[in-house]
Amino acid sequence: MKQVRRFLEVDDLAADELAAVLELAADPSPPSALKGKGMALLFEKPSARTRHSMEMAVVQLGGHPVSVAGAEVGIDERESAEDIARTLACYHAAIGARVFDHAVLERMAAVSPVPVVNMLSDRAHPLQALADLLTIKQVFGEISGCRIAYVGDPNNVARSLAIAAGRAGAQFAVASPAGCRFDPVDLNRIAGSGTDPEMVEDPLRAVDGAHVVYTDVWVSMGQEAEAAEKLQAFSGRYTVDERLMSRAAPDAVFLHCLPAHPGLEVAESVLYGPRSRVWQQAENRMHAARGLLAFLLAMK
Ligand code: CP
Ligand code: NVA
Repeated sequence: MKQVRRFLEVDDLAADELAAVLELAADPSPPSALKGKGMALLFEKPSARTRHSMEMAVVQLGGHPVSVAGAEVGIDERESAEDIARTLACYHAAIGARVFDHAVLERMAAVSPVPVVNMLSDRAHPLQALADLLTIKQVFGEISGCRIAYVGDPNNVARSLAIAAGRAGAQFAVASPAGCRFDPVDLNRIAGSGTDPEMVEDPLRAVDGAHVVYTDVWVSMGQEAEAAEKLQAFSGRYTVDERLMSRAAPDAVFLHCLPAHPGLEVAESVLYGPRSRVWQQAENRMHAARGLLAFLLAMK
């Protein structure tokens, strides 16, 4: 039996496949890969960009998205994650899920006869990383050789971005407090994607000469219990402000997956300033999702 494709992390795509997805994302006349078909989109957590970009990507491919809150299907409460995947695959050509626990996605993908797409988990946010690469490509023409500096919490977004950077031939540096680093398993996986991330405590060092300065929230969804500790660890030193941006390359841009908290991880003047590409990046969520779905469904 042919193996069903999955997209739980960026390295589920080989480097040439990733390049193909980015090409498809830029295609002004997308194929009708989902004509007459549906895609189930499950959300255990809130979403603005992911839900809307995925729904519109499905529509642009001729399909019909069905978005459902996790509680409505009751993952592992009303029935098992596996049975939910088996059931949804009876009606849909693909399944997307935003979950608290990455293992739930692995379990769904292990039994699903249709592709399962990670719409954010505690471990990874690969759809975001695709949009980030697309944005970098649009801004600089090439991703390979760019230096991406991530300042802040080495979280789901940072992990997927690091892997994406490796796959696309970019350098990756992350600045975070000493006790807040990628673990050895993450580092192995990132190294396997082709980059050896530079991990430093000093944000000025990470952004030195960077083409892209990137940050995300200090407290991710599901980490609310650690909020006080995280705010203490990051406050005062890890806000991306004008001073940090002035140490980056002269043509550097600022990216943020959003939602942003001006005054915490990023200064308002940077978020809404001339170097910010966050709205282009947000729009690219839809183009990248469309490219990915066109690719995955053409492979079936
Ligand atoms: N960047 C992102 O995933 O945004 P949402 O949480 O609004 O989907
Ligand atoms: N790291 C954030 C990203 C939100 C898009 C979170 O998981 O909440």
